[in-house]
Amino acid sequence: MLDTPSLKFVRDPHPSPTPADKRTALLANPGFGRVFSDYMVTIRYSEGKGWHDARIEPRAPIAMDPAAAGLHYAQEIFEGLKAYKTGDGATLFRPQENARRFQQSAERLAMPILPEKLFLEAVDQLVSIDRDWIPDGDGSLYIRPFMFANETFLGVKPSSEYLFIVVASSVGAYFKSATDAVSVWVSQEYTRAAPGGTGAAKCGGNYAASLLAQAEATRHRCDQVVFLDAVERRWVEELGGMNVFFVFNDGSMSTPPLGGTILPGITRSSLLTLAKDKGIAVREERYSFDQWRTDAASGRLREAFACGTAAVVTPIGTVRAPTGEFKIGNGGSGTRTDELKTALVDIQRCRAPDPHKWIYRVF
Ligand SMILES: Cc1ncc(COP(=O)(O)O)c(C=O)c1O
Repeated sequence: MLDTPSLKFVRDPHPSPTPADKRTALLANPGFGRVFSDYMVTIRYSEGKGWHDARIEPRAPIAMDPAAAGLHYAQEIFEGLKAYKTGDGATLFRPQENARRFQQSAERLAMPILPEKLFLEAVDQLVSIDRDWIPDGDGSLYIRPFMFANETFLGVKPSSEYLFIVVASSVGAYFKSATDAVSVWVSQEYTRAAPGGTGAAKCGGNYAASLLAQAEATRHRCDQVVFLDAVERRWVEELGGMNVFFVFNDGSMSTPPLGGTILPGITRSSLLTLAKDKGIAVREERYSFDQWRTDAASGRLREAFACGTAAVVTPIGTVRAPTGEFKIGNGGSGTRTDELKTALVDIQRCRAPDPHKWIYRVF
């Protein structure tokens, strides 16, 4: 596979960037994933030529052939990370990890590997040019790098052409209330990923397959769906878009182990490190849904929380399934959840020392 270590990014100036007053109005209450910045980055790949034509250009619809392979066979991967306003500058949290996971997703989907340096430069360039779109306060600029098969061909095979794009969206809180606990629906009918499948890759197809289960969760008045393993339908794996942790009455914690069916979350990995830093006993260990219910009833389980880039750390208050529902602790947030959330967010927002060198300064 061709590797292009560095490319010159060509900048196409925006003919009509969003006026400042309109941008300010949009940033007042951006919600999640609806307010977009002015620019995007695009890089093309073709067999024989490798990565080429890197551009920073006005964000606009893209022309695609209706027979582009990505539209038919879902050869598509993506990432999600946030840029934070830090004083006069902007910072990212562990973007190298997103670049590496993007490479792993690409490998699983038989796509070309984008060099880490190019991934980082694309993100860096977009955050720099769209710096005015980073909201103040609790908000952030959500960065969405993605890549899809762009060859015009209806045969089922890895595409010979790809388009890598980075767009950015000004966001507030992911859930309506950032402090309230969420309710989760444990899907009995649908699974997310089977051994040997694409569960560890961040590919669009995984999310398409989760939507019906998420709709079922919504129908049962739940915020999110929890998936059990596909083989025994017994072990808790993860939520539709977040990893999960459990906190026990002896002070220890656990999270389901990575094994190919779970997305290796960067928030998950950061929390494992922070917990160890604090001397908390934390295990990567299978936990069954039956045990979850039993431990919640006996009080052995004190807290449970979901974690991911979009919603950071979110307490789980209520667990609902066709067999009934139960509450965790008092149904709200818990001390350990709050403690870990604060520790993580303080590093992300540069309010606390960064002993693991997780912060990447854009400017
Ligand atoms: C299925 C799934 N699990 C877990 C996560 C959490 O990953 P991260 O912490 O890297 O955002 C995400 C979000 O990207 C996800 O989509």
